[in-house]
Order: sequence, then structure tokens, then C-alpha cells
Amino acid sequence: MAEQQSPEVVILPDPAGLAEEGARRFVAAAAGAIAARGQFNVALAGGSTPAGLYRALASPPYRDQVDWRWVFVYFGDERCVPPDHPDSNYRMARETLLDHVLLPRANVFRMAGELPPQEAADSYTRILREDFRIHGGSLPRFDLILLGMGDDGHTASLFPGMAALAERWRLVVATEVPAYVRPAVARVTLTLPFLNAAAQVMFLVAGAAKMEAVRAVLTGPAPADLLPARRVRPRNGRLVWLLDEAAAAALSRE
Ligand code: 6PG
Repeated sequence: MAEQQSPEVVILPDPAGLAEEGARRFVAAAAGAIAARGQFNVALAGGSTPAGLYRALASPPYRDQVDWRWVFVYFGDERCVPPDHPDSNYRMARETLLDHVLLPRANVFRMAGELPPQEAADSYTRILREDFRIHGGSLPRFDLILLGMGDDGHTASLFPGMAALAERWRLVVATEVPAYVRPAVARVTLTLPFLNAAAQVMFLVAGAAKMEAVRAVLTGPAPADLLPARRVRPRNGRLVWLLDEAAAAALSRE
């Protein structure tokens, strides 16, 4: 059983620096996977922070350093809204990245936010089982999973205290969100066992609002295990946290 590696924490001056570092690492991960296995399976993060990274990847030089023909794009989670809705994670990724690179449409596997949540979760589970030729209890191993984190320590759509966080068997589940979460719509999300099967997980976290959650997740005492982002520790993979200085500000505090 490979032991869990400790997180690699990289602090960048600002969101632009975080986007550049994320793009550089994305390119490196893609090149390595394509050289080794002829394809790069990546799950994109939602929310707003990753948009800067996606725009960097859609622009020179990074755009031209990826062989997009062999990139296969999945999603870590989705809001249960239509794909053209302003809150759709797929729409954000399409507008900032997917429409601007030579990525075959057939290589993009979005979660069907327009379906009833459970149907969307079941449909995505079928896609993953077919694409990764999964049988029985085996888990698909993404080359890279991008994640963000909320100021409550949630990641993907795994929120503190919600049943989805405790899921141990299913790859994908539908979940409601706590009352304080916006947008207040149901979600579809990859589960912790799936996230922790990845070859690499890279968190992208920016802004002072996140500093206390970053401190709790990266250095907090045991109760922080209740924080979803703290539970993401690839069993046999790399864990990288890209932070801007604002989000990392509480780390140096005693
Ligand atoms: C979502 C994301 C969610 C996001 C965090 C941080 O669908 O919103 O999956 O987990 O990464 O809420 O969001 P920001 O990057 O917008 O702060």
C-alpha cells in the first residue's frame, strides 16, 4: 500500500501567478500522461477560481504545448442547471477553455445538469464505467483532478456534514447543498474514494476569504478531518495546493 505523500504547498504572489503555475503544471501532467499512455484524463474544477487557469491554458504559450487530441475532459462536480446556464461549471469551462483549443468535442464528458440530479449522477457513473472500463469495485485513476475549496472547507460538491462526504462506494452522487451555499441548487459530484484514486490532485485556492479554511485544512488539529478538503489525500498520488499569498496568509501565524 503506497503511503500518502504530504501535500506540496506552493504559494504564488496573486491569482495571475496561481493561474500561470497551474497552467505550467497542467501542461507537464498532460505531456507525461500522453507520453506514457497516449492519453490524459483530467477532471476540471468548477466555481470561479479555475477560470484564470483555463484562460491561461487557452492562450499561448500553454495552449500550444498541449496535444489536445489526446486530452479527455471530465468534471469534478456540476450544478443541476442546464449547460448554458450562468451557474453551469461546464459553461464556465467551455467559455474560458474548451471553445478555444483543438479539443475534439467527443473528448468532453460533462455532467448532465439539465437532468434530475439522481439521473445525472447515474448517467455520469455509466460514462465513467464505460470510458475507464471499470468492473466491480475498481476505481478510475485520473491523471489529474483540479479542485477548488470554499471558505467552509468544501471541495467539489462535498460539503461538511452532508451524506455525500461519507460515500464510500459510489463514484458519483447527487447531493443537496447546505442552506448557506450559493447557488442554492442540487449538485452532482465525484466522491472522495474517486478523488483519492487520482494520480494527482491539484487544489487552486485564492483570496483572503479562504485563509482560515486553508490553515485548518493544511495545519489544523484532528477535528479539521470534518473539513472535506482535508479528506482529499490521494492514496497513491500527488497532492498539490496552489495558493495565492492572500489565501496562505494564516499559514505563517502561530
Ligand atoms: C463549485 C465548485 C466548488 C468551488 C468552491 C470554490 O461547483 O462551485 O466545485 O467546490 O471549487 O466553491 O469556489 P470559488 O473558486 O468560486 O471560490
